[in-house]
Amino acid sequence: MTLVRQTATDPARLVPGPADAPATTSDLRPRRPRPARRRLGTATGPLPELPPHRELVRRELAAYAQRIRLAALVREHGSPLFLLDVDRVATQLLALRRELPDAAIHFATKSLPHPSVIRAVHGFGASFEVASRGEIDLLEREGVPIGRCLHTHPVKSVADITGAYLRGIRTFVVDSPSEVAKFAGLPTHDVGVLVRLSFPNPDAKSDLSSKFGVAPEDAAALVERCLRFRLTVRGFTFHVGSQTTSAAPWVRAIETTLRLMRSLEARHGLRFELLDLGGGFPVGYDEPVPTLAELARGIRPALAAVPAHVGVVIEPGRFVAAPAMTLVTRVIGTNDRADGRWHHLDEGLYGAYSNIPAEDVHALLFAAAELGVQPVGDDAAERAARRVLTRMRVPVTLAGPTCDSVDVVARHLPLPPLADGDLLVSPMMGAYTWATATGFNGIARTPVVEVSPA
Ligand SMILES: Cc1ncc(COP(=O)(O)O)c(C=O)c1O
Repeated sequence: MTLVRQTATDPARLVPGPADAPATTSDLRPRRPRPARRRLGTATGPLPELPPHRELVRRELAAYAQRIRLAALVREHGSPLFLLDVDRVATQLLALRRELPDAAIHFATKSLPHPSVIRAVHGFGASFEVASRGEIDLLEREGVPIGRCLHTHPVKSVADITGAYLRGIRTFVVDSPSEVAKFAGLPTHDVGVLVRLSFPNPDAKSDLSSKFGVAPEDAAALVERCLRFRLTVRGFTFHVGSQTTSAAPWVRAIETTLRLMRSLEARHGLRFELLDLGGGFPVGYDEPVPTLAELARGIRPALAAVPAHVGVVIEPGRFVAAPAMTLVTRVIGTNDRADGRWHHLDEGLYGAYSNIPAEDVHALLFAAAELGVQPVGDDAAERAARRVLTRMRVPVTLAGPTCDSVDVVARHLPLPPLADGDLLVSPMMGAYTWATATGFNGIARTPVVEVSPA
């Protein structure tokens, strides 16, 4: 019998569910109601319902695990292990170029600052957004022309600004009068700025306007201050929120920004060059999300109003990075407690799953047995027994390896029976995972191994 969580308001209550019911990965945060499953319809009536999201992901991951020889990689490199597939970086960039052909891509370095990813993005012909000296160091080491990169951090020290300028950065972001003043020591005729606008989006996983950005109605005063400091205002930038699942926030932001640009161009005789739409393009973790094609279909009509002299920029992070890494973790201890069975893993919230508490982002977790990865024995009886086992579900708590009680990856997660040594696999683990992992409790960052699917 499968157990699934019944409602968002009663997260701990478990009821019997179908064998392929979608699993959830954590009760750490209150969750929004899930969207209804998508049905395909025709003029003559509805088509059969698609398998649930988790089952679709499981099938794809099972096939992928065979193609990258996941079991052999874990035998060779141990666990935990990140499996990095840079072809997926190129695939995602290609999709962005296809769906938003007029937008110059500046990959958000922070999402996965791995040298191989940087090389893949550079090799594709895309550029980068950076936010720190360390990110510029990394790009420089990989031979990226720094002059084409955008420095997008709205609040920097004077030393950071000067250092970035000396290394080639010519476009910075500002969102406040005090930030503008920090450029006074530079040859300002040689420096361009983008003004960061705020467009709050509480529905996004990370509302990036809650910390940065000037309200559109206050932006004219900031532009005028930039002009007084003789800075070239190249245009505007915003971020509609990470993991944004509808085109509407982009459309609203584009329309408002274009109105602002037109009025400032008329008032000051300016000619803006750039409209930077930021990142925010979503990936499917434990819930399906609209495809990029669907989102772009909503965004493109708004972009049609961008004047020819204004170039469009996007700064995708998660969309490019998340699919590029798969995480393998292992059960290192099992306990039966008052609230049920606990499995302790060799990865957790202070490591690869850090975006659970940070962003309420929940990658799916699959027992390797569900993917046909484990066991690898040939015995037919064992395989038959395993087939039965993988249809059973036991609600378990998955704990991370640190001593902190908050380090719990998932509660009441229905999984096939697990034992110490068994592997678990999470797809979509490239964005804000390896990059944000800490070394808490002396636990080293999980190593990355590159894979090339057969
Ligand atoms: C300025 C800026 N651009 C782009 C991104 C990438 O956003 P996402 O990963 O949602 O695409 C971020 C993320 O924090 C950001 O701060």
